[in-house]
Amino acid sequence: MLNLEAFESLLKTSISGRSSNNELWDSIDSTNARLLALAKDGAKEGTVVFARAQSQGRGRQGRQWISPPDSGLYMSLLLRPEKPAAEIPAITLAVGVACAKAILATTGVRIGLKWVNDLVYQGKKLGGILAEMQMNSDRSAIVIGIGINISFDAALIPEELAHRIIWLDQAAGTACDTNALAAEICLQMEDAYNRMMQGDVKAILDEWRAYSVTLGQEIVASGTSKELRGTAIDITESGALLVQTATGTEEIFGGEISI
Ligand code: BTN
Repeated sequence: MLNLEAFESLLKTSISGRSSNNELWDSIDSTNARLLALAKDGAKEGTVVFARAQSQGRGRQGRQWISPPDSGLYMSLLLRPEKPAAEIPAITLAVGVACAKAILATTGVRIGLKWVNDLVYQGKKLGGILAEMQMNSDRSAIVIGIGINISFDAALIPEELAHRIIWLDQAAGTACDTNALAAEICLQMEDAYNRMMQGDVKAILDEWRAYSVTLGQEIVASGTSKELRGTAIDITESGALLVQTATGTEEIFGGEISI
């Protein structure tokens, strides 16, 4: 069970998770919403907000992130990059890589990354990432929201979701240590973020490619200006997905893909 003291005692970072203002809520609307508010009030880089449950967990594309009590890791981490967020578009891919490495290190489970940032295992969704910006402060803030299914009560999962999601305890075949996982995510995040800020985007993209379950697959992209079908062939330095279609090569920057 998530515990702030246990999490902080496991940290091996310099900044990530090191704020004295980290928070753990029994229940909150959304850890991202809370951290965006803290960022507006000047919260320091590395501040983390956790919750044991969220009543209005946010997913990508305006979707809800179902967050029952003590069933998942619901975590938001504050970054305050020196460069404007627009200059580090691949940052979201770096978060996916950090999560994949942290999950592997703490549980031995090798997950896959589905563009843009779904954490998947055996074709089912294990987690997701939602990055949101706060532009009102002197230095822009990026709130990285991470949701990972840890231990679900199958009876409580809505039927339409049941065959599409999986949880980490299930994938690992044993109960996972959420505090160790959260501390390792901070470590891997700090490492990926530092490398990214030093301009080493290529190495991050290579790691993403190694975890990818998207590249080489036939995909359908929706939620962009037009629906697009083709083969996902690569990712670009700006985090876009390169798709070979019948008529040429297209870059997709947002929206959703199905494989
Ligand atoms: C997705 O749609 O795949 C992204 C889901 C992100 C969910 C996490 S849970 C912690 C943080 N707080 C939120 O409200 N959302 C993110």
